[in-house]
Amino acid sequence: MRALLALLALLAGCSDPPRAIPTRAAPAEPPRSAREDARWVLESDCGGCHRPDQPTAQPGALAVFDLSRPDFAERMTDTQLADAVVRVEEGEFPPSHRDTLAAFVEAELARRASEPVRCALVP
Ligand code: HEC
Repeated sequence: MRALLALLALLAGCSDPPRAIPTRAAPAEPPRSAREDARWVLESDCGGCHRPDQPTAQPGALAVFDLSRPDFAERMTDTQLADAVVRVEEGEFPPSHRDTLAAFVEAELARRASEPVRCALVP
């Protein structure tokens, strides 16, 4: 069974031991300013529910993204990130807010796509 898993992992582009995985340059982080600009937009437009320091904060909203966390986008799925752009676009906010958030989301999705394949099959 383990051999089968190892074979599957190999076919998926993984190999054992991990150091044999072809290395790529470390994925570039989106520029910090893009993330901070996006946080500013979200704090201003969505902070009522997505900021824990607000009396109107909602646990369900914080579970998706919590703007007090430096890596607030970390736990968001790609779909949720794209959805956030749509929500800002459809809200009554200055158009620049949408552009600022979209720039961050684009960089974040590109960073995720450039991450090496994670090998979860073989411990
Ligand atoms: C009135 C409170 C409230 C405001 C304001 C608010 N949200 Fe949320 N948001 C929530 C809650 C509660 C959830 C979790 C439950 C849900 O998905 O509806 C959530 C979930 C989300 C999700 C995940 C949806 C999914 O399908 O997984 C996204 C993306 C999101 N919010 C983006 C935004 C953006 C962007 C804004 C600002 C334009 C915003 N929210 C403003 C309460 C809010």
